[in-house]
Amino acid sequence: MVYQLKTENGLNKIGKFKMTFVVTENCIKCKYTDCVDVCPVDCFKEGPNFLVIDPDGCIDCAVCVPECPADAIVAEHDVTDASWTELNARLARVWPVITKKKDPLPDADTWLNKPGKRDMLEE
Ligand code: SF4
Ligand code: F3S
Repeated sequence: MVYQLKTENGLNKIGKFKMTFVVTENCIKCKYTDCVDVCPVDCFKEGPNFLVIDPDGCIDCAVCVPECPADAIVAEHDVTDASWTELNARLARVWPVITKKKDPLPDADTWLNKPGKRDMLEE
């Protein structure tokens, strides 16, 4: 398993080994929020049509991964495009915490597994 060194702002730091999980493209315009209910440390943050994981709060337990109907949550070391990791860290600093599951976005099932949603992310 590959670990990265992390600090409070998600950047490298000597002496603290930590991995995180990352929300990726398929969450966009779906936002099912099943992931939120199982997170033991409330580290999901909510934007208009996407959630992110706060890398400083995530304890790498992986329980959220099988809960996502969109399979949008992946381990940091499995992310093929590192920009998703950076996006989670950046938006986690500005978006509010979400602690309870809510209704998915109205057309979630229509957008599920549609490619090319990255440009539709609303910040
Ligand atoms: Fe929360 Fe665990 Fe998922 Fe991290 S891996 S976001 S701590 S449920
Ligand atoms: Fe998004 Fe999946 Fe959670 S679609 S809101 S990461 S359950």
